[in-house]
Amino acid sequence: MAPEIRRSLLLHSRTRRDPHAVLRRMLDRVPPGTAPTEPVAELERRVAGLLGKPAALFFPSGTMAQQTALRVHADRRHCRTFAAHPQTHLALWEAQGPATVHHLVHRPVGDPHELITLDELRRVREPLSALLLELPQREIGGLLPEWDDLVAQTAWARERGAAVHLDGARLWESQPFYDRPVAEIAALADTAYVSLYKGLEGVRGAVLAGPEDVVGEASVWRTRLGGNLPDAWPEAVAALVGLDETLPRMAGFLDHARAIAAAINADGYARTRPEVPQTPLFHVLLPVSREVASAASRRLLEETGIELPTHLRATGVPDRCALELSIGVTADDFTPAEVAELVRRLR
Ligand SMILES: Cc1ncc(COP(=O)(O)O)c(C=O)c1O
Repeated sequence: MAPEIRRSLLLHSRTRRDPHAVLRRMLDRVPPGTAPTEPVAELERRVAGLLGKPAALFFPSGTMAQQTALRVHADRRHCRTFAAHPQTHLALWEAQGPATVHHLVHRPVGDPHELITLDELRRVREPLSALLLELPQREIGGLLPEWDDLVAQTAWARERGAAVHLDGARLWESQPFYDRPVAEIAALADTAYVSLYKGLEGVRGAVLAGPEDVVGEASVWRTRLGGNLPDAWPEAVAALVGLDETLPRMAGFLDHARAIAAAINADGYARTRPEVPQTPLFHVLLPVSREVASAASRRLLEETGIELPTHLRATGVPDRCALELSIGVTADDFTPAEVAELVRRLR
């Protein structure tokens, strides 16, 4: 039998994904008589407004939304190659979907363990249909390029006729770092995808935003790929709750993440990457192998009912692994000192 979870530091913990509790939160958002098409339409309008884009389209997943966006950019430019970080989600987690389904070629740019730089982009000599930038770069601790760098890199792509696409799975979570409206960040890109279920805590789903014609063409691919769900109102309502209740808390999540990271670094057993988190997602580097840390995390849950991530990342350095923390609503009742103490038990 799975151990009982009393408290959890996981963004997607069972404790927050209990269908009964989720439905209760959603019910007030759906007055009697709501048309089944209205929540999706409202969500698309709101996200388009927040991102400052003329059009927005709901997708069942970010995976489908992003492959579709890159497909459309490629078809329009008669060019199959897109540039992106070596550890982009499309390269690691999508079972080669971009290549096998859409015949797209990923041109990796930069070092797998660092952010893309403008100099590395300038070394790309082949034609590109798009530059995909992941904000933040999840696999390297949620790092974000400085604003001037972001402006320069997106300008570089656009000057050479490539579209800019933002993997904004955590764009909401990136906004406090830039301290600019989300629309100002999204204005650097042609298309942007945002997730409905990460920081926003929806059930699932994604929205792709961009110009009318690009989003219109994306809607054809959404149908071809089986993603045109007529009554996706449960996902939309959950996301609308997230926009109302969780979006305004992003700066607070970042402050809490920074306080937690400071406590972990002061404790000295582990250290965080980056030292001062740039988003509520950051990594904790532990001086043990991932097998040891995963086993300790499972033991912790059995003994205390406290859930930490059990999936850890190897770092390439022997006996050093990385734990990804995403600080959100579930972390509210954890003090920084307590998290540092829990991290110390991962050995
Ligand atoms: C950076 C990034 N991009 C894209 C995705 C894909 O989102 P989805 O799970 O909705 O397909 C994820 C999901 O974890 C992600 O972390």
